[in-house]
Amino acid sequence: MARRRCTGWEALLRAALWQAILVLPWTSYAGTSKAASPLPKAVAPAVVSRAEDARLFRIYYGQGFKVVKNSWDGNSYLLMQNTSRMAIKTKYCTGRIKSFVVPLANYSVDTSASPVSFFELLGVLQNLQGITSDHVSSPCVLQSYANGHVQLVNRTDAQKLSQFSAHFVSNTDKDKGCNFAAYVPAEEDTPLQRAEWIKYLGTFTNSEERANAIYDAIKTNYLCLSKAAADLGTRFKPIVAWIEYTQGMWSFVKESYKLQYVTDAGAEIVDATITDKRFNISDPEDMDNLHAILCIGLMELSPSLSWF
Ligand SMILES: *[C@@H]1O[C@H](CO)[C@@H](O)[C@H](O)[C@H]1NC(C)=O
Ligand SMILES: *[C@@H]1O[C@H](CO)[C@@H](O)[C@H](O)[C@H]1NC(C)=O
Ligand SMILES: *[C@@H]1O[C@H](CO)[C@@H](O)[C@H](O)[C@H]1NC(C)=O
Ligand SMILES: *[C@@H]1O[C@H](CO)[C@@H](O)[C@H](O)[C@H]1NC(C)=O
Repeated sequence: MARRRCTGWEALLRAALWQAILVLPWTSYAGTSKAASPLPKAVAPAVVSRAEDARLFRIYYGQGFKVVKNSWDGNSYLLMQNTSRMAIKTKYCTGRIKSFVVPLANYSVDTSASPVSFFELLGVLQNLQGITSDHVSSPCVLQSYANGHVQLVNRTDAQKLSQFSAHFVSNTDKDKGCNFAAYVPAEEDTPLQRAEWIKYLGTFTNSEERANAIYDAIKTNYLCLSKAAADLGTRFKPIVAWIEYTQGMWSFVKESYKLQYVTDAGAEIVDATITDKRFNISDPEDMDNLHAILCIGLMELSPSLSWF
């Protein structure tokens, strides 16, 4: 089986993020989960996360617990601090409310559909104990899998998956367990909305401070680059056709976050009357049409046309 590789920009982004993270002080974070008295009192965390850009989740904080509302699956997740009294007696698993004890002692991820990069950035991979596919780009996860710390679980085996404190799934149709938590950044519309889901994960691992810092670094960098692109003020923006090839067909990407990348980078998308078409490589007529569009684009659409 072919494994996915880190692409150049992913590696760069990761390196840049680590640079940003390493200079931040984590000392205050280390102190918050340790209680000095023998009967630990549940306290609200010192640092909270708030969804600023994401549309699909909200976080509320109480004494010894937090509530994460997920408007994609309509669920409220009650996250109880493991030091709180209610964590011992309370267990919710209704159609709309689920409870979890945090920080998660262990968790699994449906890696056949979700990437693990946010968990890696949060520094919580040591608690990842289950994956549903070994097609992951993270060398750390592959290493953990190779040495048996992480196990491969069939994604339909809800019984086996129920052994983890939480199982993160991005396909909510497959929600078969009380410990299943919907993790759906891909349902957001813009790149920043998607990136902010690191805060959602941070609530489950009490990593709010780190999640906030990572998101702030991503957002600052993203806005800085898109502002630089907007300030260029060229008369004709480059026109970009972002095309993909799957199963013998060329087509134009449609996902709104990808289109947003293009406009935020200071370019324009090819006209929608063109992007609705699909081209079958086995059909000579289709290929003629595709080449014709390329030529028209080069001559009439814009002084510069980039394909990637
Ligand atoms: C709560 O979680 C912390 C961090 O994982 C752990 O060190 C501690 O033992 C847990 N406490 C209880 C009562 O489970
Ligand atoms: C997972 O389990 C299902 C149902 O039990 C089975 O049909 C499928 O082949 C299993 N997949 C793998 C990869 O073992
Ligand atoms: C995960 O942690 C919970 C709570 O500590 C524990 O009961 C469970 O056995 C652990 N699961 C695995 C697969 O280690
Ligand atoms: C592409 O065209 C070939 C030949 O006409 C056909 O067999 C194939 O099904 C087409 N592929 C798709 C995805 O429509």
